[in-house]
Amino acid sequence: MGKNKKGYFISLEGIDGAGKSTQIIFIQQLLENLGKEVILTREPGGTSLGEKIREILLSRDEDSMLPYSELLLIFAARVDHLEKVIIPALTEDKWVICERFTDSSYAYQGGGRELPLELIQLIEKWTISSIQPNLTFLFDLPINISMQRKQGRDRFEQEQNDFFERVRMSYLQLAKQYTNRYYIIDASLDRLEIQKVIEKEIFNFLKKIEYA
Ligand code: TYD
Repeated sequence: MGKNKKGYFISLEGIDGAGKSTQIIFIQQLLENLGKEVILTREPGGTSLGEKIREILLSRDEDSMLPYSELLLIFAARVDHLEKVIIPALTEDKWVICERFTDSSYAYQGGGRELPLELIQLIEKWTISSIQPNLTFLFDLPINISMQRKQGRDRFEQEQNDFFERVRMSYLQLAKQYTNRYYIIDASLDRLEIQKVIEKEIFNFLKKIEYA
């Protein structure tokens, strides 16, 4: 029982408009039906401080925000989120499903904003001990489809196509680097097809941890 009860950390990544918010609920239901305790959370955000930082980060009033300020604010939110929400939940043997985590910083601040990856690695190490999810679903989508699907226009969403192309390429690079935890989903498929793929992968993951 002990081993099966253990909590695991799943992240959902990808450019905006790829359908992460819809599928996070599906993953929650899937795991709950299997008797797991699940919490859903998101970044930037997930705590009172984190949600305040999120508001600043997304606000179009902050159009002149510098990339380094952006990166540091994101990690300020992340350390609070990890210490107050993610680690306590995992310690209580809950499963944590998080919309975005540090990979978003490599993709958006590293790829999109072109900040040095070495710097992100350093901050990651000092703030969150480079803790990574056990399983990451990358919702991959061509930029033109993502652009069509997007509704709002927050500070990130107003960026141009080349920014999102760099974000997408960075994600695909991360998926190559972390084949042990990454699973790429073709987010241009329809919702039910995506759910089938997710279900299969969750069962594969459960098998993997059972025999680990
Ligand atoms: P998201 O919740 O996906 O936005 P929305 O609710 O508008 O779909 O994420 C907010 C934005 O934050 C998203 O455009 C990506 C950005 N972001 C980063 O740039 N770096 C990060 O590390 C994180 C977690 C998010």
